[in-house]
Amino acid sequence: TVLVVDFGAQYAQLIARRVREARVYSEIVPHTTPVSEILARNPKALILSGGPSSVYAEDAPGVDPALFETGVPVLGICYGFQAMARALGGTVARTGTREYGGTRLTVSRPASTLFEGTPAEQSVWMSHGDSVAEAPEGFTVTATTPGTPVAAFEDDGRKLYGVQHHPEVMHSTHGQLVLEHFLYRGAGLRPDWTMASVVEESVAAIRERVGSRRAICGLSGGVDSAVAAALVQKAIGDQLTCVYVDHGLMRKGESEQVEKDFVAATGVKLTVVDAEERFLGALAGVSDPEQKRKIIGREFIRVFEQAASEIVAEAGEHGESVDFLVQGTLYPDVVESGGGTGTANIKSHHNVGGLPEDLQFQLVEPLRRLFKDEVRMVGQELGLPEEIVHRQPFPGPGLGIRIIGEVTKERLDLLREADAIAREELTAAGLDREIWQCPVVLLADVRSVGVQGDGRTYGHPVVLRPVSSEDAMTADWSRLPYDVLARISTRITNEVEDVNRVVLDVTSKPPGTIEWE
Ligand code: XMP
Repeated sequence: TVLVVDFGAQYAQLIARRVREARVYSEIVPHTTPVSEILARNPKALILSGGPSSVYAEDAPGVDPALFETGVPVLGICYGFQAMARALGGTVARTGTREYGGTRLTVSRPASTLFEGTPAEQSVWMSHGDSVAEAPEGFTVTATTPGTPVAAFEDDGRKLYGVQHHPEVMHSTHGQLVLEHFLYRGAGLRPDWTMASVVEESVAAIRERVGSRRAICGLSGGVDSAVAAALVQKAIGDQLTCVYVDHGLMRKGESEQVEKDFVAATGVKLTVVDAEERFLGALAGVSDPEQKRKIIGREFIRVFEQAASEIVAEAGEHGESVDFLVQGTLYPDVVESGGGTGTANIKSHHNVGGLPEDLQFQLVEPLRRLFKDEVRMVGQELGLPEEIVHRQPFPGPGLGIRIIGEVTKERLDLLREADAIAREELTAAGLDREIWQCPVVLLADVRSVGVQGDGRTYGHPVVLRPVSSEDAMTADWSRLPYDVLARISTRITNEVEDVNRVVLDVTSKPPGTIEWE
């Protein structure tokens, strides 16, 4: 394991991802972790991340110099670089020159461990106010920038390295190579962390933990719960039962995908609950977004709860116990909530598989060490169909929050058609991987005049909301090719009755959210 010591930058997750892209497993630890605890995890290398503060700030997080005497190779990045310089007796100055954004880096030692094989001049991404003025003893300065005489230093003897720039961001053109040089050449690691090894290890760990007991899993149709379920199914087979609640707010083909494709690919034991009438009944007459969300959430829990207790009761009759609930929690959630212990009692508001508090389960979260793109790779490794592995994120409340106005069966059917056309065309144009998701929204209470054939129409508009994003926290509207937009528009207005206008949402997030409600 490579441990990324997080000094509070948004970059720590990115660094961990880049290290994993180099096929070396990495995890993030807070900078407050004592050296002894870090060593107890037996790291093969450490990376000190950037951070928001100046090393001179009063509350600046320090680095215990003992960290550099453990023999574990260390790479300091940005703030981590400066903290390292200071801890080892170099000087960090407030030079007054700030560098933010793209900068030219000049490599002064082209054969160095970090920079070998990279150009003498390269673009790097900088974001700092302070600078290292003097490298600590024993280090060789290996790169400079116009504003920073010491932009990188290396000590092969002690295996300590540092760079002022951010090699983990895309704008640093040779950043990945610099990171890999640190990992392979500096720390002597090998690129042997693969999805096959992830699957193998998870399966063994789940078997060990669950033993002969049973588990349940709520399937939402999304990729995370699908991959989590498939992994657990591989480990314990029929001891797992999946529950899929069809609330009637799904996209076209979605339920079939879960019921047929997913089962065919995994052989999972599946309980499908058809709850369309129940949901639509509860939603009748409601058009307020928050109210809709609350109703859908509440009904979902009730239905899931009921199905779960039936499974528990049935298992009990056979003398078995259902002790585990599988959830598709991902690593960013774990990091952001400060770690977590791995087991918890489920509260009713929790995630898709909300359960009553008197039903106690231990959580099985086989994806809690993985990033989203890695989850997709695991899904692929497990042989899940492309349509499941690469599907767009879809909100729990489904199409219920993509109909602006009251939710009815007719409106859902209409939106399902329009959405299916948009997805079909985006897939045909090969744009699935480029966009994050493309909600299609029905403005059910709006009508506008149109003309079709020889007649006047008075129909509804639908909105296309294609966005690009890394994590859905922020997003930009996708610049889809005009011909693709044209095909989607033509097909929707021709094929979907009562829709006579297609409009494009060109709002970024913020200020707009991705979904309309
Ligand atoms: P917003 O609309 O907040 O959406 O910009 C951000 C991302 O979250 C998805 N989303 C949800 N997912 N339950 C979910 O599981 C929800 O209630 C929900 N609301 C929004 C949305 O599709 C986007 O990917």
